[in-house]
Parts: sequence; C-alpha cells; structure tokens
Amino acid sequence: MEWIESPEVMRTRSREARGRGLRVGFVPTMGYLHEGHLALIRRARELSDFVVVSIFVNPIQFGPSEDFDRYPRDPERDRALCGAEGVHVVFSPPASALYPQGFQTYVTVEDLSRPLCGASRPGHFRGVATVVAKLFHIVEPDVAVFGEKDYQQLQVIRRMVRDLDMPVEIVGVPTVREPDGLAMSSRNAYLDPKERERALALWRGIQRARDLVERGETRTEAIRRAVQGVLEDADLRVDYVELRHPETLEPVDAVAPRALLALAAFVGRTRLIDNCVLEAPGGSAHPEEDPCTVRC
Ligand code: PAJ
Repeated sequence: MEWIESPEVMRTRSREARGRGLRVGFVPTMGYLHEGHLALIRRARELSDFVVVSIFVNPIQFGPSEDFDRYPRDPERDRALCGAEGVHVVFSPPASALYPQGFQTYVTVEDLSRPLCGASRPGHFRGVATVVAKLFHIVEPDVAVFGEKDYQQLQVIRRMVRDLDMPVEIVGVPTVREPDGLAMSSRNAYLDPKERERALALWRGIQRARDLVERGETRTEAIRRAVQGVLEDADLRVDYVELRHPETLEPVDAVAPRALLALAAFVGRTRLIDNCVLEAPGGSAHPEEDPCTVRC
C-alpha cells in the first residue's frame, strides 16, 4: 500500500492504474476510521480493482465555532486498517496542497444544500461539494462510495456529479451501526459513557417512527412530535427532526408512500445525526431497486 501526499503523484498513480486496464474505486474520508468506513472500502474493493482512500480533514466544511481543531485523528491506525483491507493507495494531502494561497473557487449545489444540516451548518455542503469535486479531479475514479449515514451529503454529491457531468459512478452503502443501534461515527469518540447511553435515543427515535408507520400512522406532524419526545426524554438538544422527500429533500405532509426521517441533536457538546427512509405498509413494490433506500 502506498501513502501519497502530493496531488500530482496521486493523479499519476491513478492514470497508471487505468492505463493497466484497472477500474479505480475511491472512498473519501476524514480519517479516524471505523467499521462504517471499512464497509465503504469493502464495497469499493468489490466494485473496482484499484482502491484509493483519501484521509483529509477538510477545513472549509467546518464552521468557525465547530470542531475542526479537535476532530479526532490517528493516521497510524488508519494506515494499518487500510493496509489490512487491501487498499492500494491512501491519499492524504496537506491542506496547503488543496487550498493554496488565493483559493476562491467553490461548488454550490443549491436547493439540496439548504435544509436540514445545511440550515444549521451554513457553508457546510459548499465545503463538502468543493473538496469532493477536487478529489474527483485528482483521483479520477470510475466509482466512488459514500455512506447513507450522511444522507443529505450523498444526495448533494449525486446531484453535483449529474449537474457537472463528472464521469464517476456514485454508490451508497447502508449505515453501519454499533450492536445496540447507535450509528458509527468518528464523533462518537467525543462521548463520555453517560452521553454514549443518551445518544442511543436517536436510534430509539427511529424505531419509534418505524413502529408508528407500521401501525398505520403516516402524518408528518404526529411522527415528528413522537420522535422529538424520545430525544427530549433523553435530554438531547434537538437541532432538527424532519420528514422530507427522499430525493428532493422537500418537506412532506405524510409518509406517502415513503419519507426520509432525518435527525440531528446535541448530546452535550457533540452534534450527532441519523436517518432512515420510512415506508408506509404496502408502499413501494421494489424498495431494493431504489438507490436512496436506507435499510435501518
Ligand atoms: P467522514 O465523516 O469521515 O465519512 C466518510 C464516509 O464514510 C462518508 O461517505 C460517510 O457517509 C461514511 N460513513 C460514516 N459513518 C458511517 C456509517 N456509520 N455507516 C456507513 N457509512 C458511514 O463524510 C465525510 O467524512 C466528509 O464530508 C467527506 C465526504 C470525506 C468530504 O470531506
């Protein structure tokens, strides 16, 4: 496995691999890898012959009062995990290589970036879309793999690729959870044992919503209120609990026949997100054919 820091060297390696007839797979990450990231890497290995993982904590997707400075980092452990998964290249550039003096060009995916996390984290998806576009131009992958854990991010990337004619296939992977249901996240490392316990309310909220829908409740307001109650009972500070159209992310009045349930809440200082696509009984005949379906 090769560790590359220079964008030029990275592009050369990718082009060499393509020249040898290999299909290049790419998994962008911010490091501090966990089983969720590893599921993406395994999927990329299935879909390609030459797997590139990027590790880059992208400063421009963090707000001024967010956790960029304390975001967890462990490059040695990440290197070992990537090696064990059969990754061919880890690309980990310094910030100065991606954002040289005078940098001023950004990618904005307009409507999909506005609601949910976009509303509480202004500029976040502009930072994500910009760095992913840059990474795609450097790595030139045939296929790139993203987690459904960050559902809105996945939709933003799909839209960007379509709108800007980027020649890359985007593949989503279902959310990987701890045995008790908490979605894996690098930010779980911030939680103390009591907060870790309270964080489980996100998963309980999702289960509560699924129960309601299974029993015939489809009204957004009723589901929203019930989930909000579960989060507040665990003393979480709710950022949002919303039901949205799974593709456009526009508000919906009912689960008819499907709706994205998206949650964000603070456990102490730590902001966690989770989501699930709710499906009314007898709704979609072929949910497995829909790339947006989150199995949860
Ligand atoms: P990061 O949070 O490190 O996540 C990297 C990839 O792993 C994303 O596609 C994310 O959705 C996926 N992922 C995280 N937790 C997961 C889980 N529990 N199950 C499945 N997939 C999971 O997302 C980012 O980094 C950045 O925004 C990035 C795309 C790299 C741009 O900077």
